[in-house]
Amino acid sequence: MNEHVRLVIEDRVLCITLNRPEKKNALTQEMYMVMTAALEEAANSDDVRAVLITGSGDSYTSGNDINDFRGPSSGEPTVGPLGFGDRLLRFQKPVVAAVNGLAVGIGATMLLHCDLIYAAQDARFRFPFVDLGLVPEMASSLLMPRLVGYHRAAELVLLGGFFTADEAKEVGLVNLVLPPGALLDHAVGAAKTLAAKPPEALAQTRSLLRGDLAPLLARKRQESEIFEQRRRSPETQAIFAAFITRSGR
Ligand code: COA
Repeated sequence: MNEHVRLVIEDRVLCITLNRPEKKNALTQEMYMVMTAALEEAANSDDVRAVLITGSGDSYTSGNDINDFRGPSSGEPTVGPLGFGDRLLRFQKPVVAAVNGLAVGIGATMLLHCDLIYAAQDARFRFPFVDLGLVPEMASSLLMPRLVGYHRAAELVLLGGFFTADEAKEVGLVNLVLPPGALLDHAVGAAKTLAAKPPEALAQTRSLLRGDLAPLLARKRQESEIFEQRRRSPETQAIFAAFITRSGR
């Protein structure tokens, strides 16, 4: 737990709340580390049988903190997102997402690895990778066409504009759209229902539904290599610099 990631376990549901609302819950390296460790602990604990992820304020998360991506040789800024993505992808317990607002970048792509996704009516989604000079991540380049069909994936990922909760439901990225005030109760209820089921049958059924993870892991590795090349490129660094200097950040 740290000030930007709240962790609460209740009725065998681990609730992870991203809590950096003043930055639209943009994810820092430290936040990724905390989330990854929380999933690792949850994987090995009988006290947790389902996970719920949500955000505080008006955002689910606006994705990677862009400040971490600046500088062609700045440390290893992708360690956090890669570790989190890997842990989530391999996680064997059900994950429910309560998308309370903006879900941008990894905020949108992580949903592809969740089981039940509920969104507030005013939530907005975006895959901004091309406009940032980047490529998709977390095997989303494989999962999006699978989920929504090639042409709709091209629209959402190549054009990369914002889309609404209703549009997200229409393409199958969201299970249910709810009034903002009803979102969390509904999502917590679903997570608790899952947590009360026989855990081994649940895990095995989930694993059958998800199928072979090997192609996802391979695509994720391929994306990561290209992502890191792109991140370091002058084209992409100029885009990050423009975002950061926009208002003297
Ligand atoms: N990384 C770093 N800071 C971010 C951020 C991110 N991903 N997303 C938002 N912030 C910060 C803003 O810089 C701003 O900081 P400031 O108050 O110190 O100026 C604050 O959060 C509020 O964001 P702001 O842009 O003023 O809000 P908005 O409602 O006008 O727009 C977004 C919200 C999310 C649409 C916009 O901030 C955005 O496009 N962010 C980048 C998202 C992105 O590309 N993520 C993928 C990264 S790989």
